[in-house]
Amino acid sequence: MSAKALHLDINGDRHLVAAPSNETLLEVLRYRLAFTGTKQGCDKGDCGACTVLIDGQPVLSCLLLAGRCEGLQITTIEGLASADGLDRVQDAFDQTTALQCGFCQPGMILSAKALLQKTPKPTDSQIRAALANNLCRCTGYTKIFEAVRLAAGIDAPRTGVDQRPVPAPLVDPKAP
Ligand code: FES
Ligand code: FES
Repeated sequence: MSAKALHLDINGDRHLVAAPSNETLLEVLRYRLAFTGTKQGCDKGDCGACTVLIDGQPVLSCLLLAGRCEGLQITTIEGLASADGLDRVQDAFDQTTALQCGFCQPGMILSAKALLQKTPKPTDSQIRAALANNLCRCTGYTKIFEAVRLAAGIDAPRTGVDQRPVPAPLVDPKAP
């Protein structure tokens, strides 16, 4: 398939890229423009790892042709931090250590960002609904939830040493 020139507005900058008309936004972002923070998971709309913001709304970039995105404002995870530092949502995920492998994190953060822009003090069920399309295979979601509440200013940052009980080891360290 022949390549077509596209002008894509990504993170405030205009990019000119040549891509076949059947390439998704995910493919163009990752493999033609090196925005590799946008993750390729299931590639069929099930996991949310490829989430980007388009005109402020979370969108699954694996389901969207890049050619449909001209004239729209695309935000990837690389566009969230500024010269002043991390975005508050990124900072909250960092403070609460709401990750293990990190694969889901860009999409999760962008979905949370879109939620807080629209609803600065969301209820727990609004947080749940906003993150429903973002799957995490590692964390169990509790810390992700805490991160969104912290970013919204609903919970105060934890200070000092984490006082939560340490879970029992799965294997008895004294066993022979
Ligand atoms: Fe797009 Fe999984 S890679 S939803
Ligand atoms: Fe591994 Fe979420 S931290 S998938």
